[in-house]
Amino acid sequence: MARGQPDAGAGGPGVLAAAEEEEKELLRFVACGDVDDGKSTLIGRLLHDSGLVPDDRLAAAAADSRKFGTRGGGLDLSLLLDGLQAEREQRITIDVAYRSFATGRRRFIVADAPGHEQYTRNMATGASTSEAAVVLVDARRGVTVQTRRHTFIVSLLGIRRVILAVNKMDLAGWNRERFEAIADAYRGLARRLEIAYVDCIPISALTGANVLAPSGEMPWYRGSALLERLETIEVSSDLAAGAFRMPVQWVNRPDPDFRGFAGAIASGTVRPGDRLRACPSGRESTVERIVTHDGDLDAALAGQSVTLVLTDEIDVGRGDLLAGAENAPAASDQLSAHLLWMHEDPLLPERQYWLKIGTRLTTAQVTDLRYRIDPGTLEHAAARTLALNEVGGCNLALAEAVAFDPYREVRETGGFILIDRFTNATVGAGMIDFGLRRADNLSLQNFEVGKAQRARQKDQRPCVLWFTGRPASGKSTTANRVERKLAALGRHSYLLDGDNVRLGLNRDLGFTDADRVENIRRVAEVAKLFVDAGLIVLVSFISPFRDERRMARALVEEGEFVEIFVDTPLEECERRDPKGLYRKARSGEIRNFTGIDSAYEPPEDPELVLNTVERSVDEVSDEVIAWLRDGGYL
Ligand code: ADX
Repeated sequence: MARGQPDAGAGGPGVLAAAEEEEKELLRFVACGDVDDGKSTLIGRLLHDSGLVPDDRLAAAAADSRKFGTRGGGLDLSLLLDGLQAEREQRITIDVAYRSFATGRRRFIVADAPGHEQYTRNMATGASTSEAAVVLVDARRGVTVQTRRHTFIVSLLGIRRVILAVNKMDLAGWNRERFEAIADAYRGLARRLEIAYVDCIPISALTGANVLAPSGEMPWYRGSALLERLETIEVSSDLAAGAFRMPVQWVNRPDPDFRGFAGAIASGTVRPGDRLRACPSGRESTVERIVTHDGDLDAALAGQSVTLVLTDEIDVGRGDLLAGAENAPAASDQLSAHLLWMHEDPLLPERQYWLKIGTRLTTAQVTDLRYRIDPGTLEHAAARTLALNEVGGCNLALAEAVAFDPYREVRETGGFILIDRFTNATVGAGMIDFGLRRADNLSLQNFEVGKAQRARQKDQRPCVLWFTGRPASGKSTTANRVERKLAALGRHSYLLDGDNVRLGLNRDLGFTDADRVENIRRVAEVAKLFVDAGLIVLVSFISPFRDERRMARALVEEGEFVEIFVDTPLEECERRDPKGLYRKARSGEIRNFTGIDSAYEPPEDPELVLNTVERSVDEVSDEVIAWLRDGGYL
C-alpha cells in the first residue's frame, strides 16, 4: 500500500519527551468524516487538550480564528491543524495529514483523511497504515452516503476496529433516542462490511463532551469517552502473533563470510533456530542469527527491521519472501483481488502495469474486471473500466508467481500497488482475496518440431513487421506491397490487418481505449504464434498506444520485432481520407476516432520510419526490404 509518513512538525513526535514516550504503545488510527461533521475540531481538541500544541501555534490559531474562524473570534479548534492553506480558506480538508499526540498511556498517530468524495484515494492512503478508525457523523444528519463510503473504504483497507463518534450532540439536544437510532443503523452497516468491533460514542467536539472525559449532559451514556476508548482499544499484538513474513529488501554480503537477508518483518515473530521457507522458490533453511545495528537479538517481531543469517546457502534474493516453514503462504500468478483506482487515467484491462507486492516488482494485467462497487449502496455493477477513486473486483494475471497472503489475513503481504510503466505513477492499490487455480494444471508443452525447424524448412528468419500509424497513413497499402515483394523473393508470410481481424477474431471489440488495448493484445498473441510457425508476419494495426506496442515486442524474442512507424501527418491523412472516416469523425458521426478524439502516441524509438508523403509506395516498401536485407533477415 501507499504509505505516508507522519509529519514531524508542530504536534509531531518532536515535541515528545523522546525516550519515555517511545516506550509507550503506538496506535495508528484514521479519522474520517464529512466536510461538516466536525472532524478538524475533534482532532484539534485532542491535540489541544493533550497539551501538545506549542504556544506559537496556539497564537497562530487564535489569529486565524479571528480571520477565518466560525466561533465569533473565539478560538476555533479546527484551525489548530497545520493543514494546507487552501483547507483553511475553503474550510474543507483536501489531503491526508498525519499528526501525533500522546497521553499517559499511549502514543497516537492520527491520519486525518479528507471527507470530500473525490479524495477517496487519500483516505485509503491514510487508512492503509491504520489499525483503527474513528468515523464521525453529525447527530442531526446521521448515517449518510458519505459515512457508508468511508466505512466501506475502512473495511476494504482491512480495518476491523471502528469507533463511531456521533458528533454535535449539543445541537441534537443531547437526545438519547437520536443517538441510539444512528448507532443501530451504523451497526447494521458494519455487520454487512464484516467489521468485527464497533463502538458508538455520543460526543460534542465543540464543548468537549465525551471527548476526553464523560459529560454531565448525557448521563444516559455509560460508556467510555473517546480518548479512553482510543487508549484501550486493542492494537497490533495479533500481528506479532501471526505467521512469520519478511519480504527481503536486500541481500547483505559485505564479505565472503557473511550473507544476511535484510528486511522489515511484516508479521509474526522470528527466533534463531526457526525453520524458514523462501517463497516462491520453496527452499528451506534455519535461522542462525538475527543481526541488528545494536547487536544480535533473541527474537524479532512485526515492525522491526533486521538482517537474518541462515544456516544454509540457499538462493534468496530481493523480492523474495521469507516465511515460517510450517505456515508458508501460497504462490500464484493469477489472483482475485479488489482494486482501488487512484489515477485520473482510467484502468485499462489487459494493459500491462508494474505490480509491486512487498519488495517484489513484476508485471500484471487485469484480465477480467468482474464488477464495480458503488460505495454508497455497496451494490455491484458491471464495469469495463475503473475511474479515479472507483473500486472494483477483478482477476489479475502476473508475469510470474508471487507469494501472498489474503489481504484480510496479512495486510503487508496481501496488498499491492499498480504502477504505470511509462510515467511510474502509482495508479491503483489492490487487496488480494485469493489466488486463482486456473493456470495450476497448465504447463507449457514442448513439441519435437520447434520454431527453429519450421523456420529452417522455409529457409528464413521469422519476425514481426509491426506497422503502426494513424488511420489512412498508408500502413495497409505499404504492408501489402512489402508482402508482395517478399512473395516474389519466395518468402513465407502472413499479413494481419486491423480491419480484417476486427471482422473476425476481434468482432466483439469497438474503439474505446480499453477495446483497443484488448485488440492489440490478441493480435500480438496471434503474431507470436505465427512467428513460432516460422513466418514473416506483417501486422498493420493503428496500435495507438506505446504500452501495448511494447507488450507486443516483449512477446517475441529479441530482434524478432521490427516496429515500423508509418509517419504520415494528421493533415495529410485527413486530406486522403479514403474511407470518409475523418469527415464523419469531424462531423461527430463517429466517436473515439484516432487523431481526432482518441490519442495516437507516436513510437519513440522505432526500427524504421517511413515517409509516405515524399515517397511512393514502391519506394517505402523497398526501404523495408533493404532494411531486412541489411539486418540479415532476408
Ligand atoms: S486499433 O486502434 O485498435 O489498432 P485497428 O487498426 O484495429 O485500430 O482498426 C482501425 C480501422 O478501423 C481503421 O482502419 C478504420 O477503418 C476503422 N475504424 C472505425 N472506427 C474507427 C475509429 N473510431 N478509430 C480508428 N479507426 C476506426
